[in-house]
Amino acid sequence: MKVRKAVIPAAGWGTRFLPATRAFPKELLSLVNKPVIQYAVEEALASGIGQIIVVISPFTNAIRDYFRPHPELAALLRSRGNGELADEMERLDRMADIIYVVQPERRGLGHAVLMAKEVVGMEPFAVILPDDVIDAREPALAQMLRVFDSRQAGVVAVENIDRSEIGRYGVVRTETVAPRLHRVLSLVEKPEPAKAPSRLGIVGRYILTPQIFEVVESIPPGSGGEIQLTDALSVLLKRQGLYALEFDGRRFDTGSPPGWIEAQAAFGMKNQDYGEALREKLRQLTSYE
Ligand code: G1P
Repeated sequence: MKVRKAVIPAAGWGTRFLPATRAFPKELLSLVNKPVIQYAVEEALASGIGQIIVVISPFTNAIRDYFRPHPELAALLRSRGNGELADEMERLDRMADIIYVVQPERRGLGHAVLMAKEVVGMEPFAVILPDDVIDAREPALAQMLRVFDSRQAGVVAVENIDRSEIGRYGVVRTETVAPRLHRVLSLVEKPEPAKAPSRLGIVGRYILTPQIFEVVESIPPGSGGEIQLTDALSVLLKRQGLYALEFDGRRFDTGSPPGWIEAQAAFGMKNQDYGEALREKLRQLTSYE
């Protein structure tokens, strides 16, 4: 069955960015000139997924406001002769078919995904965690969809994580079945680093089957007292199998200030107009104190 829907959880507290995120969600923080969440939506669209479900908190409508059409903006820009930016605004106005579902309480990633149960229905779907922005020639999600099509089982994206940071991730124990592709044997959410079963950490891309919802509904809270998607996958794995793909591309963890700043620099340096100049300025900054 074709994957047509992507769920983007965007209802977290954004505690690592406080106070900036007191009044708006961290997914609207800008990476160069686009909010972080737009990279996730564009990755889904570029992977052939046209229906986006964004899980939002009940406290702010800012994400909805961002994506709703603003025809007056394009008209104003056009009247001022800025046709290029007007075109970009119109592209955004039509960008995607986005449905919003509210997560009334913040009870973890598994619970956030569960909020999309009715809208997803009985079909496979993707989950994109917008904090993880992936720069890749072929979108990471598209790479994973190829695995899903050939193996007919769920897929998680993984990458090699430094031992010192592995405790912040879902970690998989695997056996390799093809270059960069592994069959998952077990998973654990945020293990103590010394007990981590490998250095392969889950990054924020999943292709899931709809049976995940009933499992999420049945499991107790796990790491951090939250309903964890990783725990639900551990259960489902035994019934349906699961694959882990070391995708081709570079991932930036924009969910904390250092990763976000690194991503700004990396994406900024690729900018056609000022990338070269920025690269030089960053080079000079290395001796700044
Ligand atoms: C979530 C998942 C974790 C995964 C991580 C990737 O954790 O629970 O398994 O490794 O995203 O970014 P969070 O970062 O929300 O704590």
